[in-house]
Amino acid sequence: MPRYLVTGAAGFIGRSIAAALLARGESVRGIDNFITGRRTNLDGLEAMEFVEGDLTQPADCEKACHGIEIAFHEAALASVPRSVANPGATNAHCVDATLNLLVAAHAAGVRRVIYAGSSSAYGDTPALPKREDMLPNPISPYAVAKLAAEHYMRVFARVYGLETVVLRYFNVFGPYQDPTSHYSGVLAIFCRMMLAGEHPTIYGDGEQSRDFTYIDNVVHANLLAAAAPAEKVSGSMMNVATGSSITLNQIVNLLRDLTDFNAVPVYAESRSGDIRDSLADIHLAKELLGYEPQVSFREGLKRTVDWYRTGF
Ligand code: UD1
Repeated sequence: MPRYLVTGAAGFIGRSIAAALLARGESVRGIDNFITGRRTNLDGLEAMEFVEGDLTQPADCEKACHGIEIAFHEAALASVPRSVANPGATNAHCVDATLNLLVAAHAAGVRRVIYAGSSSAYGDTPALPKREDMLPNPISPYAVAKLAAEHYMRVFARVYGLETVVLRYFNVFGPYQDPTSHYSGVLAIFCRMMLAGEHPTIYGDGEQSRDFTYIDNVVHANLLAAAAPAEKVSGSMMNVATGSSITLNQIVNLLRDLTDFNAVPVYAESRSGDIRDSLADIHLAKELLGYEPQVSFREGLKRTVDWYRTGF
């Protein structure tokens, strides 16, 4: 019987956590409904027990949680613009799915659930860096949904005694992130386009900034969150990021060098629900988990370009 569950195991973050667990020799079950996850992302994860299922279905959550000790809940319907186009779907796959998973986890005696929170919860308030004690201010349906599920996490710790940890990710990027959808993360899109000799589109003036976080740092934080003592972390929420930010214009410049393509971005109107600047304070994760970023943005970007060059 597997000890660990990874939801969204065919997604970019889920498959990366599953791969790290397997590399440590752990037993892992993964679940995915393939709405945004890709079957090819399961290549290399053959040692994982895989369940095709949908967390909006309570029966699938029960199957997923059976016998599990620790669950990494990465499944979601990511993307701000997708949520603007279809808020109901985002709510179903981010909020209903999380509640179903928590109910099933509690019933099955799962000890700990670790949740992929989102920096979008902070919204467009000017204060930077974002600290966990700031009032959330979601400005898109996606942000509302990811935040609502955070609250369920904390309440399940408080009311039902389930150990829960919320990691608020800031713009995660790296190998296996799908670059093919209009809803994909910006770095995946820019890497793919510039490697193909295409000019990327920047929504807005390109001076918006993000705390882009390389995937290995997120995997590292999750493994620490799984091992941390309950008295220290259960019911907690913390940022997972690098603590530094970069603008889209600067990124295009870096990618010009890494891809050898002299792109001239096309500037288009800003997207609704978009945030201007995002930068994390990461002291709390340091204090609670001993978390330190393992891979810098520049090194991560280099590895990511190398992966898209050969891997996609
Ligand atoms: C948001 C959340 C993040 C979440 C992610 C899920 C914030 C601060 N962050 O990221 O936590 O995980 O959604 O999808 O809310 N852009 C372009 N050209 C493109 C694509 C995007 O200019 O082709 C721009 C966007 O308008 C935005 C920036 O790049 O200004 C980043 O966009 P994206 O990668 O979608 O992430 P966020 O919306 O920042």
